[in-house]
Amino acid sequence: MRDEYSDIRIENESQGDFDEVEALTRKAFWNVNVPGCEEHYLAHVLRDHEDFIPELDFVARTADGSIVGNVMYTKTKLVGEDGGEMPILTFGPLSVHPAYQRRGIGKRLLEHSFQKAAALGYSAIVIFGDPGNYVARGFQSCQKFGVSTPDGKYPAAMLVKELCAGALAGEKWVYLDSPAYAYDSAAAAEFDKRFEPMKKEWQPGQEIFYILSHAVVQEG
Ligand SMILES: CC(C)(COP(=O)(O)OP(=O)(O)OC[C@H]1O[C@@H](n2cnc3c(N)ncnc32)[C@H](O)[C@@H]1OP(=O)(O)O)[C@@H](O)C(=O)NCCC(=O)NCCS
Repeated sequence: MRDEYSDIRIENESQGDFDEVEALTRKAFWNVNVPGCEEHYLAHVLRDHEDFIPELDFVARTADGSIVGNVMYTKTKLVGEDGGEMPILTFGPLSVHPAYQRRGIGKRLLEHSFQKAAALGYSAIVIFGDPGNYVARGFQSCQKFGVSTPDGKYPAAMLVKELCAGALAGEKWVYLDSPAYAYDSAAAAEFDKRFEPMKKEWQPGQEIFYILSHAVVQEG
């Protein structure tokens, strides 16, 4: 069967794409995790952070030039038991336009970015996300790799993928979040005023997000 989106290209984001990507991010995340969203502001400020990696900032573009997907990566790190640090990656926001979701575009953005990330020499990715979206992309519970938060927890939403098999084997690791993700919510609310108004609403998926983002996996 012909893939109706086979003509979608994955390419690096350019400066002329910034506004369109932020509008897309807002549409993709609106009311998904909480009423409204702030991820479009995150996309707006992330690009200026020193941890942001422009080479791993990709858009999915239709034949007519519209952007229907985006993924952004930042540098972050793991700290081993002996205090040694391993530079790794995290990604987000990851957005696919609501009209194009569940048709493999997110998968293409991720598979493409994994290849490029490995070629840049990165050996692992740690994210916080809904496992339903990521286990098919090779992510597993952080607990399987001995990767915990600084307070020793294994959040259910903290997922790990090795880009280089065995890169994390034989050690316990602490994941340190990049400061790039610590943005100001008041500034996000102000930024949102630049966009056409959309109604903030409760949706059942927000409860799933709450449960997943507060759940932890037991050791063993
Ligand atoms: C999450 C998101 C990026 C996924 O992109 P997408 O293009 O819709 O996803 P894909 O079609 O590539 O599917 C990716 C995987 O999701 C899962 N999936 C796809 N359709 C699904 C469905 N109907 N129900 C449950 N899981 C599904 C599958 O595991 C699939 O991988 P597979 O095809 O190899 O089995 C997109 O839905 C989105 O932008 N959502 C809103 C914003 C968001 O939540 N971003 C991620 C933050 S963690």
